[in-house]
Amino acid sequence: MSISPTVLLYTYCITAACFILGVRYLGSPATARRGNMLAAGGMALALVISTIALSSTLPWAIVIPAVLLGAIIGAVSAKLVRMTAMPQMVALFNGMGAGTAALIGVIHILTTAEGHPLNTGDMLSTCLGTGIGSLSFTGSIIAYAKLQELIKGRPITFPLQKPFNGVLLLIIIVLGILAGTSAHAPDHVLFIALAGVSLILGIMFVLPIGGADMPVVIALLNSFTGLATALTGFVLNNAIMIVAGTLVGASGLILTQLMSKAMNRSIANILFGAFGAVQTGAGSELTGDLTVRRTTVEDLAILCTYAQSVVIVPGYGLAVARAQHEIKEVSDLLEERHVNVRYAIHPVAGRMPGHMNVLLAEANVPYTQLAEMDSINPDFPQTDVVIVIGANDVVNPAARTNPGSPIYGMPILNVDQAKTVVVLKRSMNPGFAGIDNELFYRPNTMMLFGDAKATLTELVAAIKNVQ
Ligand code: TAP
Repeated sequence: MSISPTVLLYTYCITAACFILGVRYLGSPATARRGNMLAAGGMALALVISTIALSSTLPWAIVIPAVLLGAIIGAVSAKLVRMTAMPQMVALFNGMGAGTAALIGVIHILTTAEGHPLNTGDMLSTCLGTGIGSLSFTGSIIAYAKLQELIKGRPITFPLQKPFNGVLLLIIIVLGILAGTSAHAPDHVLFIALAGVSLILGIMFVLPIGGADMPVVIALLNSFTGLATALTGFVLNNAIMIVAGTLVGASGLILTQLMSKAMNRSIANILFGAFGAVQTGAGSELTGDLTVRRTTVEDLAILCTYAQSVVIVPGYGLAVARAQHEIKEVSDLLEERHVNVRYAIHPVAGRMPGHMNVLLAEANVPYTQLAEMDSINPDFPQTDVVIVIGANDVVNPAARTNPGSPIYGMPILNVDQAKTVVVLKRSMNPGFAGIDNELFYRPNTMMLFGDAKATLTELVAAIKNVQ
């Protein structure tokens, strides 16, 4: 079946519009679902039209099984993955995209006879697409392995690591220039060497970065993959690859910046700072009254049913415990008793962007109950009860008060300013940053130890028993 170039172009325009509107709608919880559907619809359309266009050069017997196999693997793994394992899945999928972009570049060169040099633009985009794609491929695989704990998550460093990586980068550039300008250009051996060294650089680039910083690294690698896809789009003269690649490249970069800003760390510090390589507790030692006040489920039930306003702060522990449905039940019961309930969402609560939003959406928490950090912070002094569930760093007042703390300067939810704070967690253990939290010792804070799901299940029963 053949397809006219005009139909192809118009269809690509429609898919590009779907992608752009999809990204726009993803910007708000109210429209995110629609955005996701629109972008997925655009991708399905691009896939169908590209498959039809390809079928004139490739037999259906190869194209259809390949597309079906990919679609089935994608759908099944997306269905099965746990929310807390989402970052590694994104890493894996990102690696596949990057590897594909790199492979297209390699095939483009290997199918061009040596001694017939490509024009400068074509050669440049092929070298860049293959180099960046290869780096992003192995980088994503290492990120996946760290998050999946297949290799140790701590930064793996060795002396002169940065200069070593710099030399690798230089070698890649030289190989690219030689592959495109030598007498054999495009020189197949030199080009394969370029791809090989880029694969090594991807490994060396991600190894020194700590497992917990991986979400930021994945966003950056996502941006690299987008760039590699766009460059490969130039090689294949495929408009939709250029548009989609550019969108992914730009949004990945913006996301990287937003995440590092929300952690008050520079991108350079995340990439080259080996955060977590040494004990990060420096400057976090607590002094003064270190009494921990404990409470019970029954007392918390009474406290919040007689409150006027309750703010719930979800964190990583809520995701680990998978307690989103239980907290929704708690908030429904409180609302029935005319308590004003809201959820305070910190931009980096959890382990990936929008982690809490997705989790709470899963439990059908209305997005109107969700409040961003900046909008809810001024309300804490008037809030009767704050229930912190499996959140730690994002409510640590040291970020505001202790210049020696590793998280000093990170914007936090100012829950310590509320009248009463109840923290649900299993122990006094620290969170991701590995530092003590002075909130737990404040006179207006009470600790309720236990797994969040079990505690919230008991809380539901206890609230029902309050007269
Ligand atoms: P964390 O500071 O990591 O604290 C999570 C807390 O949950 C832990 O202190 C843990 O204490 C508790 N917990 C674990 N399992 C639990 C369970 N089953 N039941 C109850 N509690 C449980 O989480 P946060 O406050 O959400 O902060 C997120 C951190 O991740 C920040 O430091 C942020 O910079 C970092 N980070 C986030 C992102 C994104 S994009 N979200 C990306 C990279 C890094 P116990 O062990 O005592 O229970």
